[in-house]
Amino acid sequence: MHHRSPTIRIALVGFGNVGKTLVERLGGAYQRALREEGAQVRVTGIATRSHGIAVDPQGLDSRSVLRLIRSGRSLGALHRGPVVKSTKHFIKTVPADVLVELTPLDPKRGEPATTHVRLALARRMHVISANKGPVAFALARLRALARRKGRAFLYEGAVMDGAPIFNLVERCLPGTKILSFRGTLNGTTSLILSRMEDGLRAADALREAQALGIAEADPRHDLDGWDGAIKGCALAHAFWGIRVLPTRVRRKGIGGITARDVRRALRHGERLRLVVRGERRGQQVRITVAPEAISLDDPLAGRGGDSALLLETDLAGEIAIVEREGTVDQTAYAVLSDLLAILRRPDRGEAR
Ligand SMILES: NC(=O)c1ccc[n+]([C@@H]2O[C@H](COP(=O)([O-])OP(=O)(O)OC[C@H]3O[C@@H](n4cnc5c(N)ncnc54)[C@H](OP(=O)(O)O)[C@@H]3O)[C@@H](O)[C@H]2O)c1
Repeated sequence: MHHRSPTIRIALVGFGNVGKTLVERLGGAYQRALREEGAQVRVTGIATRSHGIAVDPQGLDSRSVLRLIRSGRSLGALHRGPVVKSTKHFIKTVPADVLVELTPLDPKRGEPATTHVRLALARRMHVISANKGPVAFALARLRALARRKGRAFLYEGAVMDGAPIFNLVERCLPGTKILSFRGTLNGTTSLILSRMEDGLRAADALREAQALGIAEADPRHDLDGWDGAIKGCALAHAFWGIRVLPTRVRRKGIGGITARDVRRALRHGERLRLVVRGERRGQQVRITVAPEAISLDDPLAGRGGDSALLLETDLAGEIAIVEREGTVDQTAYAVLSDLLAILRRPDRGEAR
C-alpha cells in the first residue's frame, strides 16, 4: 500500500502569464478538482529572471505572491531560508515534488528550459512543462531520464494550450499510427488574420493578443512562424519519436499578407491561416509552416484565437480537435490536468 499524500509541493520556474493564472486558480477554481483527488497543492517556490526568487517550505501565500508581482516588485521579500543564487540553484534545492517549467520559448535551442527539466528529473522531481522547447529538442532523452528516475515528464500545455492532444494520441488511439497532421497551432496569427477579416489593423490585433497573454514574449516568433515550427517539431517528437530541428522546418510567416489578401480569400469562401504540417515517410519527417487558404467548411477554418489540429491516421481515419478562443486560462488548465495525472500515479506524486 502506498501512503496517501495529502499535500503535493510544487515549484514554478517562470511566473508570467501562465504562472500567475495557475497560482491564482490553485487558490480558487482548481481547488474542487484537487479535493476530488484527495489532495492539496502547496506552492513552495517560485523563480523568475528579474523579479526575484522565493522559497518557503511551509508554502507561499498566493495572494501575497500575486500582489508583489503585479506591482512589479521582487518576490524576494517572501523568501525563507538560505540564499538561492540562480534558477539552477533553485531547481537543485527547492523542497518540492513537482517542477513546473514556464519560462519563455527559445526557438533556436530550447534552452534554458531543457536544462531546467533535466535538473529537476535528475533529482527525482516530476516535471510539467508548458514550454515546447524541451519537447521539441529533447523529448526522447527527457522521457528516458524520467523513466530511469521513476518520475513523470508531462507537457500537455506545450501545444494547443488545454486541448488534450498529446494525451489523445498517447492514450486514446492505441494501435493507430499517425500518418500526418496539419493544424492552426499559433493563436496569435489566427487572431490577427481573423481580426483583419473584420477590418482591423494587424498591429492592433497583435496588441489584443498581447493583452490576452497569448502572444510569445517576443511576438516575432509568432509572426515569423517560429512558434509554429517548434510546435510541429514537438508533435513530431511526441507522435513519431523523431527529432526534427526547428531550423530544418520550411517556414514562412504571415508578414506578407495584406488586408486585401484576407478579404479576397473570404470572397472565395476561404480563410487565410498559418498552417503547420507534418508528414512521416519511413524514418523521414517533413514539417512545414506557411499561410494557406482554408475552405470555410474545413475544421481548421476557425475564428478569432481558435486553434485546430487534424490527424490523419491509418486505422481511425481523420480526427480533428478544435479549441475555441484559446487563452492563458486553458494553458493553466493543461498544467492542472498534468498535475492531476501525477496525483493519480501509484506514488501520488511523492518524490521522496
Ligand atoms: N501564454 C500562453 O497562452 C501560452 C500557451 C501555451 C504555452 N505557453 C508557454 O508557456 C511558457 C510561459 O509562457 P508565459 O506566457 O507565461 O511567459 P511570460 O509571461 O513571458 O513569462 C515568463 C516568465 O519566465 C521568467 N523567466 C525567464 N527566464 C527565466 C530564467 N532563466 N529563470 C527563471 N525564470 C525565468 C520571467 O521572469 P521575469 O518576468 O522576471 O523576466 C517570467 O516570469 C512559454 O514557454 C510559452 O511558450 C504559453
